[in-house]
Amino acid sequence: MPSRSKTKASNSALTDTLARYRDRIEQALETWLPAATIHPARLHEAMRYAVLGGGKRIRPILVYATGAALGVPEARLDAPACAVELIHAYSLVHDDLPAMDNDDLRRGRPTCHKAYDEATAILVGDALQTLAFHVLAHAPLEEIEPAARLRMIGTLSMAAGSRGMVGGQATDLAAVGQQLDAAQLEDMHIHKTGALIRASVLLGALSAPGVDMPRFEALDRYAKSIGLAFQFKDDILDVEGDSDETGKAVGADAQRDKPTYPALLGMDAAKNLAAELIDTALESLSDFDARADVLRGIAQYVVNRRH
Ligand code: IPE
Ligand code: IPE
Ligand code: MG
Ligand code: MG
Ligand code: MG
Repeated sequence: MPSRSKTKASNSALTDTLARYRDRIEQALETWLPAATIHPARLHEAMRYAVLGGGKRIRPILVYATGAALGVPEARLDAPACAVELIHAYSLVHDDLPAMDNDDLRRGRPTCHKAYDEATAILVGDALQTLAFHVLAHAPLEEIEPAARLRMIGTLSMAAGSRGMVGGQATDLAAVGQQLDAAQLEDMHIHKTGALIRASVLLGALSAPGVDMPRFEALDRYAKSIGLAFQFKDDILDVEGDSDETGKAVGADAQRDKPTYPALLGMDAAKNLAAELIDTALESLSDFDARADVLRGIAQYVVNRRH
């Protein structure tokens, strides 16, 4: 059992590392996003609004933390970290549209279609998605073989598309007002949220030349568990979070009759299941050394976070 002071010290080390990764991704995103003055300026301004200056950046953090666990230099992780965050930011812009969740508040600010207009928000999503693949295709990824770069592009495109995030979003929309069973709900969460979180870890792993299959598969198991737990927690925060902290409306899922774990199983069962997923994630890392401690810390953070 770690002593309390040791736990405190490792918590503050984790907080520092996450803050450092956040600064790093902010800078990398800033570099890849077109300047707001470049034609078409309003679109570029709206893209920057949707991406910069907000968000927990958990997906890029996972790219960096997975790279750290495998000894990959951080500079090599910037492009995959950017790519996955750009896909995520696009998914949020579209998720908030009136035709989808119809939300007005995101990251503590008006949603993109509120700050601009619906057509611009649709185009922002389109452009962020293509920018993500542009970054993966064009970034100077030193010491990354062309075959590994192609695997990254393949991994992210599969995770983002109809058999990943977009597919999960389609299930989510079709499920409004329907009674899903636990297996169907899990399938929806695995796709709409789990897929991109899983891809984040896999992109980090693909940045390390020569990761053996057992370690790759262990990281994949870790990623699947925290990906599912992340959406559990998102649903929990939608019930008992504080809008000032989450930066989103609270109670929106119930208002729209969205199927969620707390609604299906009750709050206690949802929390217990999320905690079990974190135990599974930590077990998956048992063969990794202390360089995987940030991944371990992130697993705890996924369920303990307040936003
Ligand atoms: C919100 O994602 C949408 C889900 C997939 C659950 P995040 O909770 O990661 O949102 P930001 O990026 O921190 O705003
Ligand atoms: C969104 O899930 C998942 C995405 C692919 C964007 P939610 O609809 O629950 O996300 P929030 O609560 O609006 O962030
Ligand atoms: Mg949604
Ligand atoms: Mg939503
Ligand atoms: Mg939600």
